[in-house]
Amino acid sequence: MAMIFTDESRTFSEYLLVPNLTTAENTPENVDLSTPIVRYRKGKEEPALKINVPLVSAVMQSVSDSGMAIALARYGGLSFVFQSQPIAEQCEMIRKVKKYKAGVVISDSNLMPHATLADVLDLRERMGHQTAAVTEDGSPTGKLLGLITSRDYRVSRMDPGTCVTEFMTPFEHLVFAREGTTLKEANDIIWEHKVNQLPIVDDQNHLVGLVFRKDYESHKENPNELLDTNKSLIVGAGINTRDYKERVPALVAAGADVLCLDSSDGFSEWQKDTLVWIKNYDPEILVGAGNVVDAEGFQYLADAGADFIKVGIGGGSICITREQKGIGCGQASAVLAVAKARNEYFAKTGVYIPICSDGGIVLDYHITLALAMGADFIMLGRYFARFDESPTRKMLVGGNYVKEYWGEGSNRARNWQRYDDGGTGGKMAFEEGVDSYVPYAGKLKDNVDTSMAKVKATMCSCGSSTIEELQTKARLVVVSSTSIIESGAHDVIQKESDRPR
Ligand code: IMP
Repeated sequence: MAMIFTDESRTFSEYLLVPNLTTAENTPENVDLSTPIVRYRKGKEEPALKINVPLVSAVMQSVSDSGMAIALARYGGLSFVFQSQPIAEQCEMIRKVKKYKAGVVISDSNLMPHATLADVLDLRERMGHQTAAVTEDGSPTGKLLGLITSRDYRVSRMDPGTCVTEFMTPFEHLVFAREGTTLKEANDIIWEHKVNQLPIVDDQNHLVGLVFRKDYESHKENPNELLDTNKSLIVGAGINTRDYKERVPALVAAGADVLCLDSSDGFSEWQKDTLVWIKNYDPEILVGAGNVVDAEGFQYLADAGADFIKVGIGGGSICITREQKGIGCGQASAVLAVAKARNEYFAKTGVYIPICSDGGIVLDYHITLALAMGADFIMLGRYFARFDESPTRKMLVGGNYVKEYWGEGSNRARNWQRYDDGGTGGKMAFEEGVDSYVPYAGKLKDNVDTSMAKVKATMCSCGSSTIEELQTKARLVVVSSTSIIESGAHDVIQKESDRPR
């Protein structure tokens, strides 16, 4: 006889938070949104990885490429670069994020001394950078002979065949700093000498990197930037249960800081095998798994060694898994069930495994609800797809700007590894996702600023200054369908409004 759960499965919109006492300490400035994302012995050690805002972008072609990863890490969150692409291409995206530094940038526009103005223009076109280094062997770490910026040449007045050594600023005339100079010292030199970039060289005058004035200024605007010990942005990468023996070592070599198994149903022996292989290959690799919706799924992946566990089946905005396969669970109920299992696991073992609520965030307050219900961080697809920084096209449809957004289980993405049924690889018998548009919403920073302001305001209403405090103190109530109607503006004739939802 089949087992039937007695509780109905519910979603976020069916709950509200009941405010707690707000104290004088509970102001938005005092709210800390940082959160652990990998397992650790809570109370005994610090987690190996924390993020500064509790948001990660979905492992999807239409959401998480290097551009999104840079923008989100600069804000304090994290992207998982999509895995439904060849290993080399995914690694290239990871390298691009790691190379992007608000501090010292490894020069990726380099020329040999016999290069010409035509080569400079070609390089500028390809790389999009105004500054090129001339090194003895044309490599990013070769002996520095000179620098070329757009001030050094005039295309209209010079022969394209002119050799770079004739117009570059030669090393003898360059302001430079030695390896070991701190970012702060480098910026003092930039200011003192009124230059826009500062090459850093070792004691043999080999190029180590460049520090740009503009990077330092934007770094100051991003106090939450998520950086590793080399001051590179932190980036995650999706993986699958098929080609992990090749993909994982390549991604780690490319610099991925944390991995995430990308699957619509993670309660499987394939996930266990993958986790065990990775931890044997290198126990230092951080890897999350999922998705699950109940205590059994959590326990299985926790025992298999997952560093975080992702929760959610069927709640994604582009998802038709529940319609197609009849599996899943309301997102709120799934988070509550898995958070309970996680807390029990912690009480038993002393190991805290962060959980990530994945999919189904429609309104900003759903983020706060998911956190209050026990999620440590939230994965979002539709939300991030709307921004300038997502990889998809911005289009005008019916007089409104939209961006494209498609599911990994749609025919467009054909991410069969995510929907692996264990059969012969490469096929998808039916779709589990749709291809769609989402309303264009502008810059990531402007939108996340507003969303986080709302999260902080709600946390203050709930008397909480940290996510952990919110999880402990939150009091939630199920709302009736009639009171849901009461939640929006009602019984008034609303004036025209472009209030974003
Ligand atoms: P959203 O934030 O509601 O748009 O949901 C994004 C999440 O939906 C992703 O992180 C995935 O877990 C899930 N997802 C992505 N593509 C598909 C699909 O094609 N079908 C079902 N779920 C998907």
